[in-house]
Amino acid sequence: MNDALTLTDAGDIQGKAYAKINLALSIKGKRADGYHEMDMLMAKVSLFDEIEVQRLDGSEESQLILSGSPEESLTGGDNLILKAHRAVEKAVGRRLPCRYFLNKKIPIAAGLGGGSSDAASAIEAVNKLYGLGLSRERLHEIAAAVGSDMPFFLFSGRGNVVRAMGRGIDLVETGAKLNAHVIIIKPCEGLSTGEVFALYKDFMGENPDIGGFLEAIRRPDFKAMKRCGGNSLFPAALSLRPKVAGAIDALYQKGALYAAMTGSGPSVFGLYDDKTACKAAFLALKERYGEMFACEII
Ligand code: C5P
Repeated sequence: MNDALTLTDAGDIQGKAYAKINLALSIKGKRADGYHEMDMLMAKVSLFDEIEVQRLDGSEESQLILSGSPEESLTGGDNLILKAHRAVEKAVGRRLPCRYFLNKKIPIAAGLGGGSSDAASAIEAVNKLYGLGLSRERLHEIAAAVGSDMPFFLFSGRGNVVRAMGRGIDLVETGAKLNAHVIIIKPCEGLSTGEVFALYKDFMGENPDIGGFLEAIRRPDFKAMKRCGGNSLFPAALSLRPKVAGAIDALYQKGALYAAMTGSGPSVFGLYDDKTACKAAFLALKERYGEMFACEII
């Protein structure tokens, strides 16, 4: 089991669902299945939602109890946790009633994978609570059917940068570790992933060098990361949320060694190799950005 989740004495599952950042994200083209062909480098960060899962009696309905973020959209049947839960039930052909408690801290619709991380934790938890013994391959299949970011959260080892290709579900552990302090800013209202991808063809521009970026991580060489990095979805996101560019500039002005947008935005992140510099930047930007977090790559 993912070391972020533990079994309590009461027999419940409790743990942390971490956010991710896309250190660099490149789009290679459109696929026959309508998705885009990706090549990206991803890492987990120490910003997390708290999740607790209890097994219920056979007759009870699965439910989600939410605290933290007040967003109503999270509580409905569309919530990714309940979708993932139903996907596991469908895969095994029986009801697996659970009660989920979610304390939401990761901003939603932000490019940080919060919903996918919660849902991946749900799949792991229900597999464990009901002793389903689903294989790695089966879990990957169930997760991928729920969302393109899900397998990353199920399978990425902590501390290693992961390269995600294809639809985003073909994962390679690079073995590269990046020790960095991170500031994350969500500078404006959230974005729909589908909407940003739909605009990509009209706003092509940045095309990061993923191989070069990976080599730069291994050295590590932040100057080379800046040269090779970026996010192919940035121009499309920028067309919908102009504030994204200002947030990246602000991070560079406050000493970030590398800054970029994560996922389909609108959140951006800045990397620092020094904790004091990161803290100073956080304090300097605090007044300007309400939704801002200081964390680390884990
Ligand atoms: O897989 P997921 O449901 O998270 O993706 C949300 C939307 O993002 C898809 O419906 C698709 O429009 C877009 N997408 C894409 N190519 C990918 C991943 C997502 O076009 N590789």
